[in-house]
Amino acid sequence: MARREKTEKNGDWAAGEPKAILNMMPTTYISIFLLFSIIISSLCVLEGLDYQQWPEAFRNFSNTKCLRTPNNCTLHGLWPDNDIGNSSNRVDAPFHNITDQNLIPTLDHLKLVQRWPWAFCFLYSGCQRTPNNFTLHGLWPDNYFVHLSNCAGAAFQDITDQILISRLESSWPDLLELDCKGARGQSFWGQQWEKHGTCSTTPNDYEAYFNLAVDLKNKHDILQTLRQSEIWPGDYYHIDSINSSIARATGSQIQIKCGKIPFHTPVLSEIIICYDPEGTTVIDCPPVPKKGPCWEEEGLVKFLLD
Ligand SMILES: *[C@@H]1O[C@H](CO)[C@@H](O)[C@H](O)[C@H]1NC(C)=O
Ligand SMILES: *[C@@H]1O[C@H](CO)[C@@H](O)[C@H](O)[C@H]1NC(C)=O
Ligand SMILES: *[C@@H]1O[C@H](CO)[C@@H](O)[C@H](O)[C@H]1NC(C)=O
Ligand SMILES: *[C@@H]1O[C@H](CO)[C@@H](O)[C@H](O)[C@H]1NC(C)=O
Ligand SMILES: *[C@@H]1O[C@H](CO)[C@@H](O)[C@H](O)[C@H]1NC(C)=O
Ligand SMILES: *[C@@H]1O[C@H](CO)[C@@H](O)[C@H](O)[C@H]1NC(C)=O
Repeated sequence: MARREKTEKNGDWAAGEPKAILNMMPTTYISIFLLFSIIISSLCVLEGLDYQQWPEAFRNFSNTKCLRTPNNCTLHGLWPDNDIGNSSNRVDAPFHNITDQNLIPTLDHLKLVQRWPWAFCFLYSGCQRTPNNFTLHGLWPDNYFVHLSNCAGAAFQDITDQILISRLESSWPDLLELDCKGARGQSFWGQQWEKHGTCSTTPNDYEAYFNLAVDLKNKHDILQTLRQSEIWPGDYYHIDSINSSIARATGSQIQIKCGKIPFHTPVLSEIIICYDPEGTTVIDCPPVPKKGPCWEEEGLVKFLLD
């Protein structure tokens, strides 16, 4: 139970089930469905496509934590049906994981996700330590259109290489543990490996993946970059200043995540820098809309310090 809670606290991307819709009254559900249909028919059928969804509408109406809204219709499904509408769940063949490499969306960028520990510890309880530097949340191999996770790859085993452990301990600490010794302390790394590392270019070599993550983190000292732009922990800034400071230093578009709890100004929580699949060059991250916690006070955020 505690482990499960921790995974959520680590703030990972959750599968996009529109929970908010499913919990609503049937009439609300139907009106939303009708609204959806109107939007879908006006936007998607116009292009000569059949039943597809318009990502921006999906984000607006499903209240799902969408991470991307491509400017094109995307498939929801291909639904064979009859006039009576009783044709679902008739298939006898169980689903098997798709193994045809041509069908699986491939890795097209890496997201290096760093968290600001003071924000993490403000937003989630259970912190055991709060280093005064950005620390890794993870290195997430991803695809622009389809979120990659839990790919086929080696199972995680506790890391025994002491040099790698000490690199991770300082760059990628589990803030909910006092140290990363033993299985309990390594479980954060294990979760990140199984969910994200297996989608990397080295799905069977977790040491290569972890070393790459630390190497990439060391390429850009974000805290120092911010200081050079006169952005200091403990003060309030506009999200655009933080964005342009880091984007200027890395030479590419970044993503910024914020957290918000009621009656408090949003806090800067994570900085995401994107790399090509091998991690050799910085590339632009997919654009994110100017909405969500970072924009709840018109872009004013706190760069928290205790
Ligand atoms: C989604 O919401 C935004 C902001 O409220 C609005 O500007 C946009 O038109 C909406 N898009 C659709 C397709 O409903
Ligand atoms: C939108 O999707 C259609 C069908 O898959 C494709 O032919 C078209 O090139 C896409 N448009 C853009 C702008 O990506
Ligand atoms: C669906 O309805 C048709 C017509 O009533 C019936 O013949 C068929 O057996 C039904 N199929 C299922 C799977 O219920
Ligand atoms: C499908 O893939 C997932 C993730 O790799 C794995 O956990 C699951 O066991 C696989 N299922 C089957 C039936 O192979
Ligand atoms: C913070 O982390 C960066 C990147 O890993 C590193 O270069 C820098 O020395 C660290 N700063 C401090 C004060 O520990
Ligand atoms: C950062 O600034 C660029 C250019 O001004 C903008 O396109 C991008 O959306 C901004 N990113 C964030 C995370 O605010």
